[in-house]
Amino acid sequence: MCGIFGFLGNRSAAPLLVEGLRKLEYRGYDSSGIAVKNDNLQVHKIVGKVSELSKILPNHIDGNIGIAHTRWATHGLVTNENAHPHLNSDGTVALVHNGIIDNARGIRTRLESKGIQLRSETDSETLVHMITIGLNSGQEPLEAVRQTLKRVTGTWGLCVLFKDHDLIICARNGSPLIIGKGDDETFVSSDPHALSQHTQNIFFLEDGDMAVITKSGIDITRLEGGSSDTSITVLEEEWGEADMAGYPHFMLKEIYEQPEALRRCISGRLDYKNGSSKLGGLKLEPVRLHSATHVRLIGCGTAYNACRIGQLAIESLARIPAVAHVASEFRYNNSVINPNAIHFAVSQSGETADTLSAVKEIQLKGGSVHGIVNVVGSSIARLCGQGVYIHSGPEQAVASTKAFTNMVGALLLFAMRMGRTRSFSREKGQLIVKNFEKIPDLMEKYLSNPGPIDEAVELVKDAKSVMFLGRGLSSPVASEGALKLMEIAYIPCLAYPAGEMKHGPIALLEEGSPVVVIAPNDKHREKTMAAMHECKARGAKIILIHEEGDSIAEEADVAIPIPACDPLLSPLLSVVPTQLIAYQTALALGCDVDRPRNLAKSVTVE
Ligand code: F6R
Repeated sequence: MCGIFGFLGNRSAAPLLVEGLRKLEYRGYDSSGIAVKNDNLQVHKIVGKVSELSKILPNHIDGNIGIAHTRWATHGLVTNENAHPHLNSDGTVALVHNGIIDNARGIRTRLESKGIQLRSETDSETLVHMITIGLNSGQEPLEAVRQTLKRVTGTWGLCVLFKDHDLIICARNGSPLIIGKGDDETFVSSDPHALSQHTQNIFFLEDGDMAVITKSGIDITRLEGGSSDTSITVLEEEWGEADMAGYPHFMLKEIYEQPEALRRCISGRLDYKNGSSKLGGLKLEPVRLHSATHVRLIGCGTAYNACRIGQLAIESLARIPAVAHVASEFRYNNSVINPNAIHFAVSQSGETADTLSAVKEIQLKGGSVHGIVNVVGSSIARLCGQGVYIHSGPEQAVASTKAFTNMVGALLLFAMRMGRTRSFSREKGQLIVKNFEKIPDLMEKYLSNPGPIDEAVELVKDAKSVMFLGRGLSSPVASEGALKLMEIAYIPCLAYPAGEMKHGPIALLEEGSPVVVIAPNDKHREKTMAAMHECKARGAKIILIHEEGDSIAEEADVAIPIPACDPLLSPLLSVVPTQLIAYQTALALGCDVDRPRNLAKSVTVE
């Protein structure tokens, strides 16, 4: 989704801005642009990739202050005019903006009635003209931005550049913005990935913060006036340079990184002695775990699928009601919040607007929320103030893979911890710990010999639609497999609990319809097999993900074996073939695997 990068220092700004935009590319975008201050404000922007922008840039651009943007269209089509930065009418103010200005329509009308011609269809452009009106009435830049933001409603992470001032003004409300302090230079971005190569010294702006960046430093104040409490944080997590390490795509690299990522997630957290797990960041004492009334897990997309696995594992191990919620629904359903319940917000990026809003809603109603988050210092992590980092490392492909397995890993750790407090014995816990420790090796074993993925691809790549079936813990795995194939190969997919299939979706099946069945050797195996037979009887072709050595394989058109494991942990293995099927199918269809159309890595608008 939209990304911001800015620089103020002694070096030439333009190459740093372009490099910053490259770091933001993984988020998904449709156009990009930069503005550099020299004698004028020099703006270049274009539809397409950052490589297209590079082609239209002059060989050299003077100036060591600039702002840059990748746009993911919300208001207005994908056009050069709608790309950011937006300039005011006389070219003296430039602005980049993430978020949505809710009252932009009325403001446009008022601006137009004053004779101001807007060049784009965006809500963002209104801001640059309002700031200009403030400047023309004698306000200093900070005041002009402040008064503008006081007149608008909505969300923003924004940077403003002025022809006549050596500074950048930044502001945040509901859309992340981070300032990085280097030696005699300052960076700003909406994404910590883009700053990590420059500095680890970071100011995470809070909602309502404004910052003035000059050569002499960073001054952070509040929109309503007065100073801000925001202070410098040293990023501990080493995000490093996420390169492809010889893989053709980030997605494949991240699929293959899962064993190592899961090791990081569980390392030091599995507690064999007590048959439990250690999750210090949760700050949940045994008495609280014991007295909790229920558990709610909230997320979007892949994170929601992980929540559904968490729900089942928590109910099963801890014998406490647990419910998974889609964040975008939860926020608006006026849910009843019990302060004794335990709430989890699950998010790779920690910036997903729907999940963030749900967290605020729970907190507003007196509940506390724990984050299960990948990106350290992200908005959800900071807002929750307690939780579990899943330690997947940077996930660059839009389609989430290693974050999914680590979310599931973290939720299973929690289920064990809660289960040990409330229900099961040390011996049972020790058995789970032993089995859990083996999973990264089993993932590696599977990935070294992933089975006939190419045969599965042949069955699905030209299909009208693909059905995914699973029962119990494999039902959310089916949903995750369907989501992955749909989002990167653009094939309509339907995921159903295997037993529910006969209540409707079976009508879709015809001769040759591909059905992916997830059937580990658990208590649901027989029932899943029955659903599979119902599909076969209608001419469907079965792609079966099953345990090695299980005779169920004989029933399949394509049988993909995964190593045998504790059924509780099976989603960590059974999801991997579905990721590979999606990846290989997208390649076979010539899709852009890492940057699927219309999608964004971090969805920061509701
Ligand atoms: C699917 C995918 C999305 C995200 C969803 C939530 O591959 O990546 O469905 O899972 O947008 O994102 P996070 O986890 O960052 O909150």
